[in-house]
Amino acid sequence: MKVAVIGAHGQLGKDICEAFVSNGDEVVELDIERKDNQWIDIADRDSVSKALKRCSDCDLVINTAAMHNVEACEDDPEKAFQVNGVGSINLSLTCNEIDKPLLHISTDYVFDGKKQKPYDESDKPLPLNVYGNTKLSGEHFIESRAKKYFILRVSGIYGKNPCLAKGGRNFVDLMLKLAQEREEVRVVDDEVLTPTFTEDIAAQIVKLAHTGEARYGLYHCTAESWCSWYEFAKEIFTLAKSDVTLNKAAPGEFAVKVNRPRYSVLENKFLKDQKLNIMPPWQDGLKRYLKIKYNI
Ligand SMILES: NC(=O)c1ccc[n+]([C@@H]2O[C@H](COP(=O)([O-])OP(=O)(O)OC[C@H]3O[C@@H](n4cnc5c(N)ncnc54)[C@H](OP(=O)(O)O)[C@@H]3O)[C@@H](O)[C@H]2O)c1
Repeated sequence: MKVAVIGAHGQLGKDICEAFVSNGDEVVELDIERKDNQWIDIADRDSVSKALKRCSDCDLVINTAAMHNVEACEDDPEKAFQVNGVGSINLSLTCNEIDKPLLHISTDYVFDGKKQKPYDESDKPLPLNVYGNTKLSGEHFIESRAKKYFILRVSGIYGKNPCLAKGGRNFVDLMLKLAQEREEVRVVDDEVLTPTFTEDIAAQIVKLAHTGEARYGLYHCTAESWCSWYEFAKEIFTLAKSDVTLNKAAPGEFAVKVNRPRYSVLENKFLKDQKLNIMPPWQDGLKRYLKIKYNI
């Protein structure tokens, strides 16, 4: 199989490339950072058309690229819509032209979090912020325009490659750094999510891509089970054998500029219905991450 990966230099994109290569597949890496003919800007129709037509012998186009710094999206909604919304139309139309399926990454932030029970693919989204709204518009554009598509909503991702849009350090790395620097670390306990190791998403995507009968459509794709950020930090410090004091932050202790869902747990129902779900519990992903990155 040959796949084109857009956002190939990003946190998730790099792991997806590695997973396909390890599986014996061929990968074309596309990214906005590149200066050569693997350059792509998904917000620009002409660039998408040129880049994808150059690799029209690929079996699948995967898009991980997005504007996903939540504060930056709030500050510049037009740019966020251009990348996350219009970018999805550009990809859909070009994939139709070259007759290839599009696999697109979306987010748990399409929900408002009020359900307080895991969301499955049939639940109605209601985003709370510009980022979530623009990602949801991207989903709608793909659903209405692309002939063959997979949309995968992921949540709380962290990986061994830096996420540059968020300053290059993920939550696990931040906790370990703070544990070195401070005697006490305080973390919010009123936001519940499913932290997901990017290698697990990459493995699930390889499986989906290689399952000929996988149905096109919208998928939730996160690790199993859930925790608050505080519980996530607790597990990190336990596994790292850190003796830092961890306490729950008081409500409102950390000022937030942008509204976020306080509960964004996703249920991988569509994957499970088709017996394709290989996502492990979040604790397993964390153990492997700490082993790979810190040899803990
Ligand atoms: N991070 C999370 O916690 C999280 C949670 C839920 C969903 N998601 C979704 O997961 C996906 C992957 O996130 P990630 O953490 O891997 O992001 P990332 O590390 O920022 O990677 C995204 C890559 O896409 C590139 N890119 C940005 N704008 C582009 C454009 N207009 N055209 C082409 N390439 C562009 C980026 O290049 P530059 O670095 O040069 O901009 C970067 O290499 C995104 O769709 C995001 O919405 C993320």
